[in-house]
Amino acid sequence: MGTGQHILTRKTPSAMFLVMTIDDGGEDAVREALTGLSGIVTTVSSRVPEATLSAVVGIGSAAWDRLFSGPRPAELHPFIELTGEVHTAPSTPGDILLHIKSDRQDLAFEVGRLWTASLGDAVTTVDEVHGFRYFDMRDLIGFVDGTENPTGDDAVAAILVDAEDPDFAGGSYVAIQRYVTDFTSWNALPVPDQEAAIGRSKVENIEFDDDVKPTNSHIALNVIEDANGEELDIVRDNMPYGDIAGDREKGTLFIAYSKTPAITEQMLRNMFIGEPEGNHDRLLDFTTAVTGTQFFAPTTEFLDDPPP
Ligand code: HEM
Repeated sequence: MGTGQHILTRKTPSAMFLVMTIDDGGEDAVREALTGLSGIVTTVSSRVPEATLSAVVGIGSAAWDRLFSGPRPAELHPFIELTGEVHTAPSTPGDILLHIKSDRQDLAFEVGRLWTASLGDAVTTVDEVHGFRYFDMRDLIGFVDGTENPTGDDAVAAILVDAEDPDFAGGSYVAIQRYVTDFTSWNALPVPDQEAAIGRSKVENIEFDDDVKPTNSHIALNVIEDANGEELDIVRDNMPYGDIAGDREKGTLFIAYSKTPAITEQMLRNMFIGEPEGNHDRLLDFTTAVTGTQFFAPTTEFLDDPPP
């Protein structure tokens, strides 16, 4: 198995997400920039060794064949748009994802700036989000986010492609969605109703027992199992983002790493179509997905020496 990119780093105070499309004729410059990314991270982090700094790059389905010859990751396909009775998860353009994490916003900014400069006019940035860690690891909706993420070996097993796709073992699938939240409505909802929407208590962050947890709560719809009753996990690295003023966009940048996109897709179906159908995630009544893109994050060996 190849070496995975630095995905499983701890939650940092700052994260940036750049989604780009490749302009016509930009393929060679992108291939060159992919091999240069680790050097950029090194030159920035070597000056502030005490600060965590990492950058993960993902490649979209259509871009894969434009950039590389040879085999492609077995399950790489565009983000699947979902239209439920009430809510929609759109599929939006994106050939390249750069996910930068750091203790310091200046270092994250510097990596993004240098890498974007190295790409020149080969790409167009279609979404750029500067996320920040909110106190207590809470989302802007006030709930602690990330508690049930797998850790240690379980996290590695959850995100890395293995023997099922030997050419791409050590890589990961990564999906992102940017959500815009209506905080006027959310904050008008009494806390017990907010807790029912999530399926956990707000202050103490305790999961509700199954007999009181509503079937349309975020937790109930996102705990899924395989045919043997084993829970299926993804690793989420969501970040709050946004501007404060009333009508400016703010919410959650959802990002999930997994060994197969099928797990994230099942969760999204449960949330948007509902389980059973029509029983959609109550959280979606307050927060709207405005982007949705699927990528594959290859191994470091692949990025250092991509096939022609
Ligand atoms: C759990 C927030 C979107 C999958 C949670 C929790 C919160 C939360 C507060 C409970 C604590 C935790 O375990 O992290 C949000 C917000 C979202 C969002 C604010 C977007 C606005 C999504 C999406 C998915 C997802 C799109 C899947 C495609 C999960 C999973 C859990 C979870 C798997 C853990 C369930 C468990 O094992 O208990 N989320 N989430 N979330 N969320 Fe989300």
